[in-house]
Amino acid sequence: MLKIFKFFKDILLFIPVTLFFHPFSKLFGFLYYFNKLLIWINKNKKIVLYNDYFSLIRDYGKRVKLYDFVSEHFSLENKKIIYLEFGVAAAASFKWWLSKNKSTESRFFGFDTFEGLPEDWGGFFSKGDMSHSLPEINDARAQFIKGLFQDTLNKFIQENQIILTQHSQKVIHLDADLYTSTIFTLAQLFPYLRKGDIIMFDEFNVAMHEFKAYLEFTESYYIKLRPVAAVNNFYQTAFIVE
Ligand SMILES: C[S@@+](CC[C@H](N)C(=O)[O-])C[C@H]1O[C@@H](n2cnc3c(N)ncnc32)[C@H](O)[C@@H]1O
Repeated sequence: MLKIFKFFKDILLFIPVTLFFHPFSKLFGFLYYFNKLLIWINKNKKIVLYNDYFSLIRDYGKRVKLYDFVSEHFSLENKKIIYLEFGVAAAASFKWWLSKNKSTESRFFGFDTFEGLPEDWGGFFSKGDMSHSLPEINDARAQFIKGLFQDTLNKFIQENQIILTQHSQKVIHLDADLYTSTIFTLAQLFPYLRKGDIIMFDEFNVAMHEFKAYLEFTESYYIKLRPVAAVNNFYQTAFIVE
């Protein structure tokens, strides 16, 4: 059997007829990940504690309800947390978490180019969209790290070993939209993830981007993330590391 497979594979390598399908690669890729997403939703929709699935209208403001649920459910308000946000832009979500958490020992780090998306995203947004000047924040617990994650995160990790390895609750907010940015971030943070850390995705149900990154990350690193809350049909979804 193995010999037959090898024979056909060699034929395809020599006479690459599969290239006829290349113009449809994006469509096939989308269908693959979208179907994976549908299967994932069907399997997980009942175990999520806070959920609005299925709702016809997407209301971006609902993400605040998700933050509120996460904060209350895990009693984060007065807890010392390490908040890491990837994709800050005007800092709307960053400021929410900063004002919600009252512990003077918490630290908040926001990563962004502040020059917009490094690539086109989803057919509607172009490279450079969402650029924003560095937000002004009057809170000594907060710090922004300007630049591509791919250029800044590794250095940040090396310089902040103590903060990242001490036993504080990590709240990681992934809001960079792109597959590349999200998978890179998850892979870099993997050695520092601990049971009970929270990971929120802001565009989880976008099949070819954050969902694809989630799927590849959990399947490649054998890590279990349990969904705890979701709004807008899993557009925003929060997980806990198990
Ligand atoms: C949707 S916005 C963030 C919105 C913000 N969290 C809020 O609540 O308003 C996405 C941001 O991700 C940033 N971004 C995406 N990929 C990045 C990367 N690889 N490195 C740095 N910033 C990135 C973009 O610059 C953009 O500002």
